[in-house]
Amino acid sequence: MCGIIAYLGKKVAQPILIEALKRLEYRGYDSAGVALLGSGAIRIKKTSGRISALEKILDEPDAAETLGIGHTRWATHGKPSTINAHPHLDYTGKIAVVHNGIIENYGTLKTWLQNEGAAFASETDTEVIANLIGYFYAKGDSEEEQKKSDGQNKFEWSVQRALQEMHGTFGLAIVCSDFPDTIIGAKRGSPLILGVGDNEYILASDAAAIVEHTTQAIYLADNEMVTINPEGFHTKTIDNITISKELKQIEFSLEQIELGDFPHHMLKEIFEQPKALSTCMGGRIDSRNNRIKLGGIDSYLRELTRTKRLILIACGTAFHAGLVGEFLFEQLARIPAETEYASEFRYRNPIIEDGTVVISISQSGETIDTLAAVEEAKERGATVLGIVNVVGSSIARTTDTGIYLHAGPEIGVASTKAFTAQVAVLTMLAIELGRRRHIRSDQASKYIDELSQIPDKISQILNQSDHIKQIASANIDQDNWLFLGRGFNYPVALEGALKLKEISYIHAEGLPAAEMKHGPIALIVDGMPVVFIATAGPQYNKIMGNIAEVRARGGKTIVVATEGDENIKQHADHLITIPDVPEFLQPMLTVVPLQLLAYHAAVLRDHDVDKPRNLAKSVTVE
Ligand code: G6P
Repeated sequence: MCGIIAYLGKKVAQPILIEALKRLEYRGYDSAGVALLGSGAIRIKKTSGRISALEKILDEPDAAETLGIGHTRWATHGKPSTINAHPHLDYTGKIAVVHNGIIENYGTLKTWLQNEGAAFASETDTEVIANLIGYFYAKGDSEEEQKKSDGQNKFEWSVQRALQEMHGTFGLAIVCSDFPDTIIGAKRGSPLILGVGDNEYILASDAAAIVEHTTQAIYLADNEMVTINPEGFHTKTIDNITISKELKQIEFSLEQIELGDFPHHMLKEIFEQPKALSTCMGGRIDSRNNRIKLGGIDSYLRELTRTKRLILIACGTAFHAGLVGEFLFEQLARIPAETEYASEFRYRNPIIEDGTVVISISQSGETIDTLAAVEEAKERGATVLGIVNVVGSSIARTTDTGIYLHAGPEIGVASTKAFTAQVAVLTMLAIELGRRRHIRSDQASKYIDELSQIPDKISQILNQSDHIKQIASANIDQDNWLFLGRGFNYPVALEGALKLKEISYIHAEGLPAAEMKHGPIALIVDGMPVVFIATAGPQYNKIMGNIAEVRARGGKTIVVATEGDENIKQHADHLITIPDVPEFLQPMLTVVPLQLLAYHAAVLRDHDVDKPRNLAKSVTVE
């Protein structure tokens, strides 16, 4: 969702802001803009559409402008348009703001400001922030208010005053034409990181826009703000209490977020899965002692071993990983587990009994519904564990304990390697809890050994990419698809359908195979593609029955089966195979051909795979 960038240094700001905005593109957006300072008044350029459209309307970079803010907007309040694009200038023309988040009381504030004479140009909630800061800046210089401001400059004081009136979420970068060498950043609910370079500062929504310049950063917490100028920066709460923040190392390199030889980040990340999983599991699998070592949660392992109930909360693809986790915890650890959409959990008056542990799963660690659900669970007394990819993200910092994926940055909007890494972490945790609770040591050792071979087995599946492309091509004109699986592969069917919808814009439904008969079977017409996950396992014969039902009605079967299954050949219009592994390890393999199928279908339909319409990588508003 919305991406924020701000630069202050000795270099010309405009090209730096544009490059940084390109790094934030993957978050999802529909318009973009910059505001530059240095040679007088604030100079704003903004437009609806892509960064390439913004580049077309930019003037030549001005060498005097070494400070600026920029934004990619994902519309919430007001349609995507140039007028609604950020930065927003206040009614006095002195304050410019870029914003990520939602101001819930913007309606009330807007009416009040209008009554006070402030004019509005856009439909956005962000303009209320600009105008309120502008209002306090213009009016708030009475002696008494200045006294309260405790010697700080008027700009900083006005920002604090305005933010104290705001309900909702914000990540902000703000400039004022009277202070052409100052940027103020502030955060509540939306991420904001300050990259600290050599005589330069880059404030951004995420580290991808910073690593090109520096890997040293401070992570702002909620209700904190930072004021940056050429002399340095200082951090405070928005209530004006000075705080000191620790400089942290950003844990990934520029190379990891570049495309390299791949045409799309999504394909790169699909192919990175063997490596991502090796890194995720490396150092955690202790084959000599038949154990899994999950260092981060050491002090919580006894509580987890004794837990009476696990609740997994997540959104999107991470939710599907959670569903796999439910099967894993029940089967391997014999712990009752249930998975909930984070957005439903938080508004449902959930029951947290003694001994309940909540596991939140999130690639970005910033999904607002998951974050809010974590807070809700904690408030109700649950211990909350996070399974998160982005180090230092909000969910990672809010949970009591956690396990990082270490899958490397995921840029493709359609999540791929994060899913397999989430399932890998859940598998490791389930095996370790199972070993502590009831699994015999030789059995645990066998599981661990099989798990450690998964990365190599994914590599074997990736070799079928061209074959899968042909399958996508043969069915590319079909607008309705079904994805069916049972048991451990039922969540994979959901994930396969989601992938196809996200990037190919083809309507797809994922279902537990047996449910097909209770309605969706009515959809099957001649030539409709139905993807079956029919791998070796206890439900194999049942799913063969479902395949027959689809074929009898003219459906076309695309079957993911186990290598060496000769019988399946006569039932599949298209066959994709995976290496033979126990059922509980299959999701990490069966999902890979479905990721490739969706990818190739999207490319064949000529869609922008890494920037699917309307979607955002990190959903930071409710
Ligand atoms: C968005 C993304 C999905 C992702 C979901 C949850 O919808 O487009 O790919 O699965 O958010 O994100 P998270 O970062 O919490 O895993």
